Amino acid sequence: MRSLLFVPGDSDRKLEKAFQSGADLVIVDLEDSVAPANKEAARTIATDFIRSLGRRAGPNVYVRINDLSTGLADADLAAVLAARPDGIMLPKCNAGADVAQLSAMLRVHEADHGLPDGHTKIIALITETAAGVLSVSTYRDPNPRLAGVTWGAEDLSASIGASSTRDGNGRYTDVFRLARAVTILGASIADVAAIDTVFVNFRDTEGLRQECVEAERDGFTAKMAIHPAQVPVINEVFTPLPEAVARSQAIVMAFADAGNPGVVGIDGQMYDRPHLKRAERLLARANAAGVS
Ligand code: COA
Ligand code: MG
Repeated sequence: MRSLLFVPGDSDRKLEKAFQSGADLVIVDLEDSVAPANKEAARTIATDFIRSLGRRAGPNVYVRINDLSTGLADADLAAVLAARPDGIMLPKCNAGADVAQLSAMLRVHEADHGLPDGHTKIIALITETAAGVLSVSTYRDPNPRLAGVTWGAEDLSASIGASSTRDGNGRYTDVFRLARAVTILGASIADVAAIDTVFVNFRDTEGLRQECVEAERDGFTAKMAIHPAQVPVINEVFTPLPEAVARSQAIVMAFADAGNPGVVGIDGQMYDRPHLKRAERLLARANAAGVS
């Protein structure tokens, strides 16, 4: 999974376009991109659309529901689980306990719709509240449904009262850099995908590319998009390059040939267990992207 494209759940036209965008995953949004007056219509449009996909080959489909404090989440789940989405995105997640609560709710709706327990995966937005940023250690021993964690700056800025998320040079300010870092660490302790947040300036392809390169460098393995034009850029940057694949294969082979020791030398350079782990991870990503 490299690219995850958001699409407002009340727009039939965009739903179809998102499905054909080349994204690895589509997030049908019932939350912030849907006006309060449209929430119910969006549930119906989104559910009908996902159901209509049937066995059509294409991206995985998740639904972003309204958060657990809104009183809307359960009705969102009751509607969309009928269409058997691959997963649910949980916004404004405050801690691992919120993931556990969503998991318990999913269990009930899965039973109602004849789905096996655990069918529906979860991606959590873990930095949209101050409590969320400060609770990252609670994602240790994660719920088995958790497939990834990601972060958001806009809701956090509203919750702390910041007037901007970036400084005059376009760099995230401290609190948002912390939120970003916490997401990488949270993904690591939970052993799930680290997914970078959206880049909202959707005409600025070079800005997007630079943010993707920095995200990949820092440990993110995927990034969310808000516009189909962002998908090819994200897919390209998060697909491991042939040289990186070859180097990782050489590292894995060197360890295997040497009987799996703690350390090996390749071309006059030392490689130890962290290098092996990194190489194995890169090969898994290359495999998922179809380039190994
Ligand atoms: N998914 C699918 N299709 C999309 C899309 C998306 N996220 N964003 C744009 N498109 C489609 C448009 O419908 C348009 O197609 P059309 O002309 O055939 O109708 C085409 O792509 C070009 O769109 P463009 O004119 O460049 O942008 P716009 O002004 O129509 O839309 C946004 C701009 C931001 C409103 C739109 O990209 C959007 O809705 N993004 C998702 C927002 C969201 O879900 N936010 C929540 C998470 S932060
Ligand atoms: Mg939001």
